[in-house]
Amino acid sequence: MSVGIDLKGKKAIVFGIANDKSIAWHIAKRLDDAGCRIAAGYQERVEPLFMPLMKELHNPIYEKCDVVDDASMDAFFKKVQEEFKEVDFLVHSIAFAKREHLQGKFMDVDKRGYQVAHEVSAFSLVELTRRAAPMLKKNGSIIAMTYLGSEKAVPGYNIMGVAKAALESCVRYLAVDLGEKQIRVNAISAGPIATLAASGIANFPEMLLNYVAKAPLKRNITADEVADCALFLCSDLSRAITGQVIYVDAGYSAMGI
Ligand SMILES: NC(=O)c1ccc[n+]([C@@H]2O[C@H](COP(=O)([O-])OP(=O)(O)OC[C@H]3O[C@@H](n4cnc5c(N)ncnc54)[C@H](O)[C@@H]3O)[C@@H](O)[C@H]2O)c1
Repeated sequence: MSVGIDLKGKKAIVFGIANDKSIAWHIAKRLDDAGCRIAAGYQERVEPLFMPLMKELHNPIYEKCDVVDDASMDAFFKKVQEEFKEVDFLVHSIAFAKREHLQGKFMDVDKRGYQVAHEVSAFSLVELTRRAAPMLKKNGSIIAMTYLGSEKAVPGYNIMGVAKAALESCVRYLAVDLGEKQIRVNAISAGPIATLAASGIANFPEMLLNYVAKAPLKRNITADEVADCALFLCSDLSRAITGQVIYVDAGYSAMGI
């Protein structure tokens, strides 16, 4: 779908492409279609499915980068600095928690599991933003991905809900830090989409059915619909929106039952 947003000459850093189902992939493709160049940071373990996707983009740059490894982040940002000099957008579409902490009782999470979920899923936004900040241009935009489990208890989402609450708070504080430079920071709260990350959530099939039954639009959402919102948040159409969580969830979050 063409929505007539032109990002020619713009440059985006995108984290979180694992395969063609990844929300980050749909966002990268949408930005690329609009004329934006992509710099993608990817985890070594996803390389076999990541590499063929890069052939679908126009002149992307990419580099292995794990957000728990300072040296790999140093190498990634050095490459982006050398090739792009400046960037307009940063897309953070990363999350991780141990599978055993995405089922059963929330209180069974251990200290290390709590820390890992927060380090990868929330603190990494701060770390990537700080590293990108010197390169980010005026009117730039940062986007993080979140889920309703941050503000409501969603059985099975457990520690990831707590990490998403931290992530959303980070979005607001980063919006304050970067507002003077006219850089916006927002989160998209997406409804459930079948991806690699989602496959780790024990109750995920029930979540999908629940949205069809209860969301005002009586359906699930697609990664393309999330990408449309990301395109809007990268465009000047969203120039007065910052520090917000924007729901792309068929209206599910508006319901009381
Ligand atoms: N799928 C859903 O239902 C849904 C709904 C709302 C929000 N989200 C959020 O969307 C984002 C993207 O998830 P997705 O559903 O596209 O799944 P995905 O598995 O395709 O993407 C998750 C990405 O995180 C990356 N990642 C994990 N640990 C990392 C690390 N240490 N360093 C670098 N990258 C790391 C993985 O390589 C992967 O590319 C996540 O923040 C997720 O919580 C997903």
